[in-house]
Amino acid sequence: MNQETLRERVAAVLPEVTRVRHDLHAHPELSGDEKRTARLVSEHLGRLGIEHDTNVGGTHGVVATIRGRARDGATFALRGDMDALPIEEESDAPYRSTVPGVMHACGHDGHTANLLGAAMVLHAMRDDLAGNVRLLFQPAEEVVRGAEALVEAGAVDGVGAILMLHGWPDLAVGKIGVRNGPAMASSDSFRLEIRGRGGHAAYPHDTVDPVLVGAQVVTALQSVVAREVSPLSPAVLSVSTFHAGTAHNVIAGEAELSGTWRTLDPALRERMPGVVERVIAGVCAALRAEYTFDYHWGTPVVVNDAAVSDLVREVGRDLLGPENVVELADATMGAEDFAYYLQKAPGAMFRLGTGCPHRLHTPGYDFGDAPLAHGIALMVETARRYLLANSAAEPAHYEMV
Ligand code: NI
Repeated sequence: MNQETLRERVAAVLPEVTRVRHDLHAHPELSGDEKRTARLVSEHLGRLGIEHDTNVGGTHGVVATIRGRARDGATFALRGDMDALPIEEESDAPYRSTVPGVMHACGHDGHTANLLGAAMVLHAMRDDLAGNVRLLFQPAEEVVRGAEALVEAGAVDGVGAILMLHGWPDLAVGKIGVRNGPAMASSDSFRLEIRGRGGHAAYPHDTVDPVLVGAQVVTALQSVVAREVSPLSPAVLSVSTFHAGTAHNVIAGEAELSGTWRTLDPALRERMPGVVERVIAGVCAALRAEYTFDYHWGTPVVVNDAAVSDLVREVGRDLLGPENVVELADATMGAEDFAYYLQKAPGAMFRLGTGCPHRLHTPGYDFGDAPLAHGIALMVETARRYLLANSAAEPAHYEMV
């Protein structure tokens, strides 16, 4: 398809997609509570005649499939997240949040509307599509539960590759950011209970002080990243909570700590629970305390597949111009549950410029309307080219600009 046709098709759906975004922005729903959003998505898909399932994975997930009619081929998946955040919006926009204390501060209103727009365009071109497109409208991204639930429900079974975008305020509208390899960190957490022996603070020799033990554990854990992880491998080990005690003259019986462990290296991630517990066990043994250690595996590392990323680059260069495809120098230590899909199929995430002067997760953030045309065109064209290159029959060729 030439660029003009693609742009025309995107322009044709844009008024409705923009209305949808405003509607979603005005009616944000927290993670796990995306009832209205999922219903709105389902109604739009239903009106178009796109087959889809609702309440996927026991959540508000909506999973649709567009079956190409050109020939049998692979399945390419596109993901958009739907949930909002517990933040009070500060905005004069006519479509500002109508729900007190809840707003689309991460721009998922834009992601959902964008995916719906891509669905409309891909459905319109299904006669020319050489394979299938799976659309994942995902709930509960902010609490990193939605993706895993969709994966367990089989939403990405048979998918050859998967793509997501995230609106990015630091990039101007019309620009994208891409990166191969690790892009976002794994995020695991742990909980530690230290048990000593409480008593009168005037008679410490009769006690085993869990506050002192906990303080030594916190300090000792800082040596893990400093001395057991390569300085060239980004990693974070933070003890973030520490609760103990009730009065200044009472030594507590126990202390409770929790923290997070993040890395860009999947092998290092696997090794870490053993390392952390070894340090805890050593300190507790030395200071006569007992402990219970619970490790919670959270989101894996987001590792962008080079082939999928390269395809996004190529499409970006053709649609936006080479100067608007920005190579991201750094990964971030933030996490994204998109990583769960990547354990099932290769894929990539890219950043879509929103040019918003406000940061993500702040009261002034707004995905805006202007990024939609670019986001829809990029998703549609990446899916189309992937299917062309990965379906049977004639050798793939792009008839593009
Ligand atoms: Ni987000």
